[in-house]
Amino acid sequence: METSIKILDKTFVPFIKEEEISAAIEGLADRMNDDFAGVSEENAPILLCTLNGAVPFTGALLTRLRFPVEMAAIRVASYLGTESTGEVRTILGLEKSVKGRLVIVAEDIVDTGNTIEQLCKTLREEGAAGVRICTLLLKPDVYKKNIPLDYVALRIPNRFIVGFGLDYNGFGRNTRDIYVLQ
Ligand code: IMP
Ligand code: MG
Repeated sequence: METSIKILDKTFVPFIKEEEISAAIEGLADRMNDDFAGVSEENAPILLCTLNGAVPFTGALLTRLRFPVEMAAIRVASYLGTESTGEVRTILGLEKSVKGRLVIVAEDIVDTGNTIEQLCKTLREEGAAGVRICTLLLKPDVYKKNIPLDYVALRIPNRFIVGFGLDYNGFGRNTRDIYVLQ
């Protein structure tokens, strides 16, 4: 675990260990289980996984939720290499109706907030009854939007990270720990 990893042209060093990630997700799930206690199948929320980065997080979270919940996925992209482009593209749209439903967006990381802003707009246009934001990571120094972040597992400084779903140009998603650019 103390060893660095190389992805394409860059070197990344250990940053957040698997155990810390699991404990943070566990804490988040506890809060959500309290907040959604008593919901039934008739008013169950939809956990919306933002492909591809949030796949490991959504999976880990989903299996810890103790209330009726459905799952859906959407794919948007804003990053090119290690920089946010500021432009959010929808690559794969919603395959499930969110009309009248409470949607919990599961994100790997909230950085500028452009992605969740675009997602919230899309979900409102599609008639969602409400939107909650749930993210594994937040860069608080970069985030400047007014959208409330309901569930945040971990806060990190403005550094570029990979692992546990997060990528550098498509690679580096498949580690249990999170690494930071050296
Ligand atoms: P935002 O739209 O600027 O909030 O960026 C959110 C998206 O950018 C995330 O869902 C990630 O896909 C990507 N992203 C932001 N920061 C990082 C990072 O440090 N490593 C890898 N991807 C990142
Ligand atoms: Mg993402």
